[in-house]
Amino acid sequence: MQHLFDEVIDRRRTGCRKWDAAGQLFGTDDVLPMWIADMDFKSPPAVVKAIQDRAGHGVYGYPHKGEAFYTAIQSWMRRRHDWQVEKEWILGTPGVVPALSTAILAYTRPGDKIIIQPPVYPPFFSCVINNQRELVQNPLVFSEGRYCMDFDDLENKLDGKVKMLILCSPHNPVGRVWSREELERLGKICEEHDLIIVSDEIHADLVFSGHQHIPMASLSPEVAKRTITCMAASKTFNVAGLYTAIVIISDPQLRDKFMQVFEALDLNTGNLFGITALVAAYEQGESWLEELLLYLNANIDYMLDFVMQQVPEIQIARPEATYLAWLDCRGLGLEEDKLKSFFIQQAKVGLNDGRTFGGKGYMRLNFGCPRNVLEEGLLRIARAVKYCR
Ligand SMILES: Cc1ncc(COP(=O)(O)O)c(C=O)c1O
Repeated sequence: MQHLFDEVIDRRRTGCRKWDAAGQLFGTDDVLPMWIADMDFKSPPAVVKAIQDRAGHGVYGYPHKGEAFYTAIQSWMRRRHDWQVEKEWILGTPGVVPALSTAILAYTRPGDKIIIQPPVYPPFFSCVINNQRELVQNPLVFSEGRYCMDFDDLENKLDGKVKMLILCSPHNPVGRVWSREELERLGKICEEHDLIIVSDEIHADLVFSGHQHIPMASLSPEVAKRTITCMAASKTFNVAGLYTAIVIISDPQLRDKFMQVFEALDLNTGNLFGITALVAAYEQGESWLEELLLYLNANIDYMLDFVMQQVPEIQIARPEATYLAWLDCRGLGLEEDKLKSFFIQQAKVGLNDGRTFGGKGYMRLNFGCPRNVLEEGLLRIARAVKYCR
C-alpha cells in the first residue's frame, strides 16, 4: 500500500535550499540532496489548507499573534510534553538561531565564556564566535553504543568565566533524547556554577517510541529560573521556510532582559503564514505527526539494516529523535577533504560535512524523505564504497 509519505515530490525550482542550492554548495547538480534539516514531505493537510485559506484573503499586512497562537502552544506543551506553560512566558521569534544570539547578547558580555557540547548544530559555534564570546567545548563521548555527556569534563571547564551553556535537546546530530537523570545532573551543575541554560528543543516533537522528551525548564523551579527554552513547529511539521519559532522563559527578570535585546533588534515580530501554520499544526496536526514518526522510524530500521549489511565501514548509532543520522565514516579510511569529495563525486549524494559540527571523519545524512529516495541514496553510497574496496 502506498503510504502518505511515500509520495516523491519534485522540489526543484521551488526556491528551496535543499534542492535548488545543492549545485552551488556541492559544486555539481549531480547529487541527491540529503543535507539541510527539512523534509521532502508535504506539511499536514490541515496546515496546507490553513495557509491556502489565509492566502486566499489577499491582504497580507502586519500580523498579530492572537489568543489562538498562545492557547495552541500551551495546549501542545501540556499534551505532548507534560509541561504547563503560562501565556506570558511565550515570545514569538523568526527562528531559533536568532533567539540563541539574543540570549547570548542579553545574558553575557564580550569575552565571557559559553559552553557547547559538540558534535553539534553548527550555529552553536558561530553564534558564540560572531558575538565575540569565547567558545568552550565539552564534547560528547561515545560509550556503549550511544553518545553521552561528559560531566567530569564539563565541571573541569567551569572556571567562573563560563556564563552560559547552550544545550541541544534532543541532540542534532547524534539523535540522543536526554534522560531525566542526565538532565537533572546537568541542571545541578548549572545551578552550582550559576550558568544560564539556553535549551534548544527544536527537535522535541520528533522523538521515537521508547523515548520521552523532557523540557529542561520542566525539571524543577530552580532549573526553570535559569533556563531559556527554544521550540518551534518548524521541524515537526516541515514549515521552516515560514520563519516562526517560540521562546519560553518563565522567570520575569530573565524574560525582561531577553525582551530588551529582542526589541532592540526588532525581532519581536511574527510571520503571518508562520503563525497560521503553527496554530493549525498544533491544533490539528497530531495524528499526522504520529504517522510521520512511524514512517521515520521505519526509515531508520531500513537504513541501519542496509548499512550494516552493505557498508559495514560506516557506523550509525540508532537515532532516538530527529530525521538526521550521524555517520561515523572513519572506517572508510579517507582523509578529511577526501571523505567530503568521496560522497559528492563518487557516491553522488549531498550530505553535511561532519567537520562543521565538530566531528572529523563523520557525515550527517537527512532521512526525512520517501523510502525510495533513502534507498537510492544508500545504494549510491554502497556502490561507491564497493568500487573503492
Ligand atoms: C538544533 C537546531 N536548532 C535550530 C535550528 C534552526 O532553527 P531556525 O530555523 O528556527 O533558526 C536547527 C535546524 O536544523 C537545529 O537543528
